[in-house]
Amino acid sequence: MRFKIFSLGCKVNSYESSAIASLLKKNGYIEDDNNPELVVINTCSVTATADQKSRQHIRKFQKLYPNAIIFVMGCYAQGNKEYIEKEIKPSILVGTSNRNKIIDLIEEYRKNKKNITCIDNNPRDYKKYEELGVTSYSENVRAYLKIQDGCNNFCTYCIVPYRRGTMRSRNKEEVINEAKSLVKQGYQEIVISGIHVGGYGQDLENQTFSNLINELSLIEGLPSIRISSIEESEIDDELINLIKTRNNIAHHLHIPLQSGSTSVLKRMNRKYSKEEFIAKIEKIKQEIPDIAFSTDIIVGFPGETNEEFLDTVDVAKKCFNMLHVFPYSAREGTEAALMNNQIDPKIKSERSSVLLELSKELWKEYKKQYLNKEVNVLIEKFDSKNNINIGHTSNYLEVSTPGNQSLVGKYIKVKLTKDMI
Ligand code: SF4
Ligand code: F3S
Repeated sequence: MRFKIFSLGCKVNSYESSAIASLLKKNGYIEDDNNPELVVINTCSVTATADQKSRQHIRKFQKLYPNAIIFVMGCYAQGNKEYIEKEIKPSILVGTSNRNKIIDLIEEYRKNKKNITCIDNNPRDYKKYEELGVTSYSENVRAYLKIQDGCNNFCTYCIVPYRRGTMRSRNKEEVINEAKSLVKQGYQEIVISGIHVGGYGQDLENQTFSNLINELSLIEGLPSIRISSIEESEIDDELINLIKTRNNIAHHLHIPLQSGSTSVLKRMNRKYSKEEFIAKIEKIKQEIPDIAFSTDIIVGFPGETNEEFLDTVDVAKKCFNMLHVFPYSAREGTEAALMNNQIDPKIKSERSSVLLELSKELWKEYKKQYLNKEVNVLIEKFDSKNNINIGHTSNYLEVSTPGNQSLVGKYIKVKLTKDMI
């Protein structure tokens, strides 16, 4: 059977879509984007816009391929079962579990020609990590490796734990085996991914995220490990020491701040204060001076005063080299959506602009330190129009340098000039 997969949302969704594609291929299905008999749509629900996009795409594919089996899965499907069953009527509907039953579900549908819904109502009841098998979801020379699903934090603005359930760590042997297989396939960098990677091991005995990174970093022939995103509280001394001493762990950490105001953090149900956050960053910087820090910040959280916003600006200046800024968007079903003092969109947009401007300055300043220095760059692609190679350093400086196709996937040493970064 010919199939096509369409994935919305985050890297974890893309990884899972890729795993589903592998599963289908293993069972004799053939990927065919133009003339599919089966369309798999992996949906997202992180904002109201993501919900809307998910609905639009399912409908679009129903229209485009009226005779195809439409298989809908993912976070939007998980939270909107009744609506989708009644109004959209895909052939098969699963949420954030039962995805590994895809082959059986398709067989059942073909036999009975009746729409199927296979959704576990409460993701909080998920007990185990759903193993989807070894995959290689990659961008050029960099592959993603999923190590866990779900999150126990329940930040008051976030819908994700309601869609994906609480923390389930992937079996360590599966993680290590998949990493080894990626090394064998020639990937030069593995990005450790998940919904809340730093929580790895919370549901296992005697296992922590740092232990896992330690074991992964010892895999023979693995050139580089990158941690996708990690909470401040989960960066322990062991992890700092590993990043400092192992030569294959990237010197870049993405640590979500969300707000620099202790009072806003409390309303968000985040687990640190402004001072604790700054102290952790300073400690890491002291140990690993060339490390780069990026972050996510939400502006205009309910009740955010100008003073509270200025605290965020202050922490951003002290701690980060790059900021990803998101205006707060209320998600039905979360605590924050019911809070008083929702912020005017105009103020959110003004505060976003302030931080985006700051981010540009911070990154410019960070890059400056590297001018005329020699760095190691992993070449990811070749732009044949301009004859340049593009890649990243361990601390995520993007570097463009004259080159050729044969350098893709290789590490090269270059002395940085202004026009390279
Ligand atoms: Fe959502 Fe907070 Fe968990 Fe991140 S830590 S996934 S923001 S609940
Ligand atoms: Fe969207 Fe679910 Fe990822 S809500 S961002 S697909 S975890």
